[in-house]
Amino acid sequence: MASDRAVSDSLLISGAAEIVTVRGRGPRRGDALSEIGVIRDGAILVRDGVIAAVGPSRKIEKLKESKKAEKVDVGGRVVLPGFVDAHTHLIHAASRAEEYELKIRGASYEEIAREGGGILNSVKKLRAATAEELKKRARGFLEKFAEYGTTTIEAKSGYGLDVTSELRILSLHKELDAEQPLEIVSTFLGAHVVPAEFRGKTCGTQRYLELLTEELIPEVAENGLAEFCDVFCERGAFTRGESRRVLEAGKARGLAPRVHAEQLSNTGATRMGIELGAASCDHLEYLKAADIRALGKSKTVATLLPGCDFHLGLERYAAARELIEAGAIVALATDFNPGTSPTLSMAMILSLACSRLRMTPAEVIAAATINAAYSLGRMDRIGSIERGKQADLAVFEVADYREIPYYFGVNTCWMTIKRGEIVYLRD
Ligand code: NIG
Ligand code: FE
Repeated sequence: MASDRAVSDSLLISGAAEIVTVRGRGPRRGDALSEIGVIRDGAILVRDGVIAAVGPSRKIEKLKESKKAEKVDVGGRVVLPGFVDAHTHLIHAASRAEEYELKIRGASYEEIAREGGGILNSVKKLRAATAEELKKRARGFLEKFAEYGTTTIEAKSGYGLDVTSELRILSLHKELDAEQPLEIVSTFLGAHVVPAEFRGKTCGTQRYLELLTEELIPEVAENGLAEFCDVFCERGAFTRGESRRVLEAGKARGLAPRVHAEQLSNTGATRMGIELGAASCDHLEYLKAADIRALGKSKTVATLLPGCDFHLGLERYAAARELIEAGAIVALATDFNPGTSPTLSMAMILSLACSRLRMTPAEVIAAATINAAYSLGRMDRIGSIERGKQADLAVFEVADYREIPYYFGVNTCWMTIKRGEIVYLRD
């Protein structure tokens, strides 16, 4: 790799067997979800971290600027827009491998939660950890995200559930965003569950909701610590009414709503989310036909998280085909978290979405890039390989984009580029 960046801020990426551009109008619904704009034998010219030109090699290489640009030959591999992982719980203190074993032996996720395990288990562990420990762990994960071809992640708080710990998590999102190359989009999830110290007390849930809406949300908003506000609307977490109260309080302070909806049962969270103009409703295993129709007509993204069903060994996956047919904006994410989806591999999620959700390889790529970018309000800047967009790219050690979901449990990512800089290259 020639390095003449001192004299040129341009980078020419050439020799791609395929460039999957996902260019064109977004977000993608219905048949448009599979229009991913593949350029064979393609090249990309990057200037100052932004895509200056993309097209067939013979055309791009002829440009005057290409001649003096730094060159990266990707040797017949496949280039995609960097993955946008629009649902993660990045900051947590430890795994819950002990619960994994209990689940394998037959305990359900909800049973474990009722016994004080689950989210409360992670809360206990996070409160006992120092900010430095949490940061170190998160840094390690962010490096892995980059190794798997992800260039932007959304990250939720929600394992702190008191003022100090929630603010600590959100501040870490900010610090990590500033100190390492991946972009972190911060979401406040104080309404994950009611913390232990409020349980079994008179009006405990109400008092916690007050803490969220009157203390935490104003503080988060004033300090610019999050862009979104999320709730876990589910049995054992928050009812639809409680969830609405939190999301409305967030919205009033400029935090756009996102919802953990219909994961284990149908609570009506999806329709509530749509009514509030939520950026995204996530999970959606228990949608009713009317919910699917409503998503089909709305701008709220349906973010599917098949890693959860896989990890929990559940049979019921989200009805992706029906959602696509209804015209919903379908996105995919890892839901990286210690309880239900301990993976940070978007490629693994793509494999699951193909095999279990019956989405095609083209559909899963659009869902993991442009539609996910839309759900984070960043479609104008990331999610596709087009002139004027940030040069966020992932290069895979395959010759056909369909091989990316085809190989499962195998990391085929070879190089990751964020804002025109190589942030990962396989040895
Ligand atoms: O997205 N469903 C709620 N939140 C997470 C799981 C949290 C946990 O079990 O730690 C999820 O699945
Ligand atoms: Fe989640």
